[in-house]
Amino acid sequence: MKETNPATEPIGQNLIKLISNLCFSVFVFSVLIFTVIAITYQPPDPWLESAPALTKLFTQSENATFKNDNSILKTGEDLQTVSAPAVPPALAIEPITEQVIEKSEEKVTNMTLKSSGCENLQIVNCSDPRVLITVEKFNLKWFKSIVFLEYQTPVNGSKPDECDVAWKFRNKKEKSWRKYRDFRRFKFGNGENCTYKIVHASGWHSGINARRQRIKVNATKSGGKSPKIAPSVRDEEINDTIPTLGSEMNFRKGRYLYYSRGGDYCKGMNHYMWSFLCGLGEAMYLNRTFVMDLSICLAGSYNPSGKDEEGKDFRYYFDFEHLKEMASIVEESEFLRDWKKWDRAHKKKVPVRKVVTHKVMPVQLKKDKSTIIWRQFDAPEPENYWYRVCEGQAAKYIQRPWHALWKSKRLMNIVTEISGQMDWDFDAVHVVRGEKAQNKELWPHLDADTSPDALVAKLQGIIQPWRNLYIATNEPFYNYFDKLRSHFKVHLLDDYKALWGNTSDWYNETMLLNHGWPVEFDGYMRVAVDTEVLYRAKTRVETFYNLTSDCKDGVNTC
Ligand SMILES: *[C@@H]1O[C@H](CO)[C@@H](O)[C@H](O)[C@H]1NC(C)=O
Ligand SMILES: *[C@@H]1O[C@H](CO)[C@@H](O)[C@H](O)[C@H]1NC(C)=O
Ligand SMILES: *[C@@H]1O[C@H](CO)[C@@H](O)[C@H](O)[C@H]1NC(C)=O
Ligand SMILES: *[C@@H]1O[C@H](CO)[C@@H](O)[C@H](O)[C@H]1NC(C)=O
Ligand SMILES: *[C@@H]1O[C@H](CO)[C@@H](O)[C@H](O)[C@H]1NC(C)=O
Ligand SMILES: *[C@@H]1O[C@H](CO)[C@@H](O)[C@H](O)[C@H]1NC(C)=O
Ligand SMILES: *[C@@H]1O[C@H](CO)[C@@H](O)[C@H](O)[C@H]1NC(C)=O
Ligand SMILES: *[C@@H]1O[C@H](CO)[C@@H](O)[C@H](O)[C@H]1NC(C)=O
Ligand SMILES: *[C@@H]1O[C@H](CO)[C@@H](O)[C@H](O)[C@H]1NC(C)=O
Ligand SMILES: *[C@@H]1O[C@H](CO)[C@@H](O)[C@H](O)[C@H]1NC(C)=O
Ligand SMILES: *[C@@H]1O[C@H](CO)[C@@H](O)[C@H](O)[C@H]1NC(C)=O
Repeated sequence: MKETNPATEPIGQNLIKLISNLCFSVFVFSVLIFTVIAITYQPPDPWLESAPALTKLFTQSENATFKNDNSILKTGEDLQTVSAPAVPPALAIEPITEQVIEKSEEKVTNMTLKSSGCENLQIVNCSDPRVLITVEKFNLKWFKSIVFLEYQTPVNGSKPDECDVAWKFRNKKEKSWRKYRDFRRFKFGNGENCTYKIVHASGWHSGINARRQRIKVNATKSGGKSPKIAPSVRDEEINDTIPTLGSEMNFRKGRYLYYSRGGDYCKGMNHYMWSFLCGLGEAMYLNRTFVMDLSICLAGSYNPSGKDEEGKDFRYYFDFEHLKEMASIVEESEFLRDWKKWDRAHKKKVPVRKVVTHKVMPVQLKKDKSTIIWRQFDAPEPENYWYRVCEGQAAKYIQRPWHALWKSKRLMNIVTEISGQMDWDFDAVHVVRGEKAQNKELWPHLDADTSPDALVAKLQGIIQPWRNLYIATNEPFYNYFDKLRSHFKVHLLDDYKALWGNTSDWYNETMLLNHGWPVEFDGYMRVAVDTEVLYRAKTRVETFYNLTSDCKDGVNTC
């Protein structure tokens, strides 16, 4: 007997409605709890902590949101502990120390004693080794924060008593082994005992005759789409070409870990790094080559346009050359092309293991012999974030290779230029404003404590009058700091616009990566440069703990 009760259907529907409402409430509630945890939990600025604390914070904060004040950006080179070997042995160069100079001086003295070279000193001969020794001594005395690595033989300046000298150096505050170049003009006079002395030394990059002949490369061709294909110059020390796998056999012999694009795409850059390093960490754990997409989507918060922008090259922001040295990677389109080529040419397809959920842990893939392990991230958010692979148990054995991620050398050249123009003799203040200053609930005093008058009052007690003062800040209004100008020589990032303007090296070099189209200097690059200049200051004043008593992560978090 089947009697349809007119009431059952609505009841059934109501029940379904009730259940779904209940489910939704549970969902909302858990999101709420999650958010509360994220807010009260207070890790969000782990990027500022020291290396051991960082690891701890990161492992605890797996669920935390990736919000920080976006005015500082730490990468591997900033986290390196001093004890860690920063220089690969093959690249180690002995710094030019006093002992090294003394040795070469002794040699020269012996030589000149034989030929009694004192008379020749009336004319300054730039190739005379004594010229170089004089410069080496001078630099060592004046630039205490610099490690001098290699000098080139001085060349003539613009006048007979001038020489231009070029050298490579490293900043003691930079923990990477990367080298930078400077070339300056020196004016010489006669010192005692057959020596030269420096009468005048010009500033950063003044010795243009010693500037090396730069390699001319033809801009990459891109099917006539380029606005101009003109020969251009580049930093010959940067080699971030995309590696190729070479022969087919090489492809087949390899073992790959391939992450397809997940929910991380177009999220903030901290999220990007956190996820990318999880994937790379898993690849290292599995002893596989990581397939990497060099095309990044930059979130709107960093873009002057305010919109998410796709197609940003990884190499604008990070040091791809260093990454290539530290990890086994292959670029995604190279990889896909070789994969397709192989499958077309051979009956036996390349063995692939598809992994559809992050719940399959890395340890479960350890024994897998497939050529390709392909992690797919097609579940709804937040199940489709790469970094979820490294949660839970996996966090215990997957280590994020922070040491592999450095800032782009092209950005670091700008940092070096800014600090070099100040002769590395500057103090800096980090002024956090932006969203935090507007949020009076979590940061009640921040806005007032970073007001122009408060800054003047506070900094006068810490920084000597008329020192170079670099201000790293997320305050967008350029003239905001004008009051400080009557006390200090104020420098802001925007004072150095020319370094990324359309006549700069940076402009030319990034254009080469972008098929001949100009690259915009975006908010993320600004933060990267601001951060590194800040770290090179002699005295560094921080917003939290120095300027204001508010806590970095909101009320009652410190
Ligand atoms: C992170 O989330 C998972 C479930 O998604 C939960 O089991 C774990 O306790 C959370 N961890 C923290 C530190 O909140
Ligand atoms: C220079 O000469 C002195 C003595 O004349 C000698 O002891 C020294 O070894 C020489 N140095 C070099 C580098 O030739
Ligand atoms: C300059 O010094 C170099 C090295 O000592 C020497 O070979 C050269 O002849 C000198 N030139 C002049 C013009 O004195
Ligand atoms: C450098 O200047 C000296 C004289 O001042 C001159 O004899 C020499 O030829 C010049 N060297 C070069 C490479 O121009
Ligand atoms: C020059 O030589 C004399 C005697 O060798 C020495 O006393 C003097 O200190 C030297 N001067 C310099 C500036 O090295
Ligand atoms: C650059 O292009 C010019 C003209 O198209 C050519 O003569 C030259 O050989 C090219 N140089 C390089 C390094 O490819
Ligand atoms: C750049 O590095 C690649 C390896 O990643 C190497 O094969 C290539 O020869 C290097 N190019 C130059 C110009 O050094
Ligand atoms: C990693 O893989 C390479 C080649 O694929 C192999 O030579 C090496 O022994 C492996 N290392 C470990 C620790 O499994
Ligand atoms: C550089 O930019 C300025 C101002 O935007 C413009 O006038 C100039 O033509 C540009 N120069 C080049 C080489 O693109
Ligand atoms: C950049 O490239 C343009 C044209 O290719 C060239 O005229 C200019 O001198 C280059 N600028 C720098 C700083 O190298
Ligand atoms: C900033 O505050 C920290 C922590 O209180 C302190 O160690 C440091 O000396 C202060 N810096 C300056 C420049 O006053």
